[in-house]
Amino acid sequence: VDLRAFAYGLPKAELHLHLEGTLEPELKFALAARNGIALAEKTVEAVKATYDFTDLTSFLAVYYPAMEVLQTADDFHDLAWAYLQRAKANGVVHVEMFFDPQAHTSRGVPFADVVTGYRRAAVRAQDELGVSAELILCFLRDFTAEHAMSTLMEALPYKAWIVGVGLDSDERDNPPAKFAAVFARAKAEGFFTTMHCDIDQKGSIEHIRQVLEEIGVDRVDHGTNIVEDPALVALAKERGLGFTTCPVSNSFVTEQMKSDEIVSLLREGVRVTVNSDDPAYFGGYVADNYVALAEQAGLDAGDLARLAVNSFEASWLTPARRAAFV
Ligand code: HPA
Ligand code: ZN
Repeated sequence: VDLRAFAYGLPKAELHLHLEGTLEPELKFALAARNGIALAEKTVEAVKATYDFTDLTSFLAVYYPAMEVLQTADDFHDLAWAYLQRAKANGVVHVEMFFDPQAHTSRGVPFADVVTGYRRAAVRAQDELGVSAELILCFLRDFTAEHAMSTLMEALPYKAWIVGVGLDSDERDNPPAKFAAVFARAKAEGFFTTMHCDIDQKGSIEHIRQVLEEIGVDRVDHGTNIVEDPALVALAKERGLGFTTCPVSNSFVTEQMKSDEIVSLLREGVRVTVNSDDPAYFGGYVADNYVALAEQAGLDAGDLARLAVNSFEASWLTPARRAAFV
């Protein structure tokens, strides 16, 4: 089989995708023009030349300022709609999409505009593309726990549109435990929970331990360093905990795909999945991530099919809706 065609055609769920990370330079220019914003870079090539990431911090330093072009509910709709069409072309039939409301409310954009714009695109994806799309509200971990809690309160009227909550941004000195009360409240409100554990240094295993043992998340984003602790791997396997890995993103922010870790988890029967993270910045949508991992690690079609099955099993679809896919 042509593995690339197989990877694209494979029906899959995407579970680790930041909507703000799908802002392609072409759309950035269109939104800037619509909103009367002058951009420092004048061409697509000049924008892409700034994508010179060596770690998470250097990525985030480009990622947040780019969001200035997102101003109105229509802008958020257009961003998500562009992504959802690409996702469809990558074989995605269900997606749980992160969004970062604090990156917008902190610059004066109303929470309601962000969530209604994104929601409109999600509904449209179901109607026009047959792609089911849900939203996950991500808190920025370099903001205070109080700011996260007030954002959670702002989200409550939109509960029906938000399947879960996550935690992203700069992980250094911002451990999961900082947000224990916020996540306890989110769970009490009925949200599913996940957290990024992606720092690639001493200490990340401690963050993974916190999310498993103290926070009790329903999923872990990245989290491949769990292989350092076989007892935690056994616990994750026993719980059927999903891991949303992002090979192409890893190759930018940690300089390696973490394919050994991902494949080791796959072979052990841990519910590991493959996702694109911030595809506009890292240059690969989800099927490209399946292909990149397969090429790096020598995976076959059966392995890719297993990863796709895992993506549905690790999703937050209701059992009845999940049964339609696997
Ligand atoms: N890690 C942390 N924060 C992020 C990421 C990521 O991969 N993408 C967008 N915000
Ligand atoms: Zn991420």
